[in-house]
Amino acid sequence: MDAVVVYESMYGNSERVARAVARGLADGVRVTVLDVDDPAAAPGALPGADLLVAGGPTHAFGMTRPATRADAVQRATGEVSRRTRGLREWVEAVPRSADAGLVATFDTRVTKVKPLPGSAARGAAKVLRRAGYRMLTPPASFYVGDVEGPLDEGELDRAESWGRSLAAALAPAGSAPRV
Ligand SMILES: Cc1cc2nc3c(=O)[nH]c(=O)nc-3n(C[C@H](O)[C@H](O)[C@H](O)COP(=O)(O)O)c2cc1C
Repeated sequence: MDAVVVYESMYGNSERVARAVARGLADGVRVTVLDVDDPAAAPGALPGADLLVAGGPTHAFGMTRPATRADAVQRATGEVSRRTRGLREWVEAVPRSADAGLVATFDTRVTKVKPLPGSAARGAAKVLRRAGYRMLTPPASFYVGDVEGPLDEGELDRAESWGRSLAAALAPAGSAPRV
């Protein structure tokens, strides 16, 4: 079994979650991790995989947009990505297919202002389902204490165990006859 994990991250928290999910998945699955801004992650260039995992930060109740990314750059007090492509542009570029395969989505969000509605993971899932993907599990959220992070205590462990649960769900789901 193979999985590709694609992520967007402005301050590094979603990238850390993506890598933790990949560590969990690697227990039985070959995993490639790519930034959505990397040319190797272009939907046409992606290696074939049994599972796609896609995630990134929640901005303004959904996936980032150029304006919210510019806002993130302005607010930054430390390192920040100056990416030109985010998760929204990436999922919208995925070609439609009758059975694109299995997908799982995640996001990072702040706990401080909980309960804020809206989740990039749910937004990405909606677009990918429309493109023909089947959800392996419901969208997952991981929490940061403030806009730039850090991740709340235990979130990386939770991400790793979510990755392990994806690997466990993948074996039976991947071999099921397609309808
Ligand atoms: C412009 C902007 C808008 C944001 N909007 C939301 C929001 O609507 N809900 C939320 O929970 N967090 C929001 N956040 C916090 C981000 O989710 C947080 O910065 C992100 O999870 C950090 O992940 P990253 O390090 O991968 O960029 C926002 C952050 C920025 C910079």
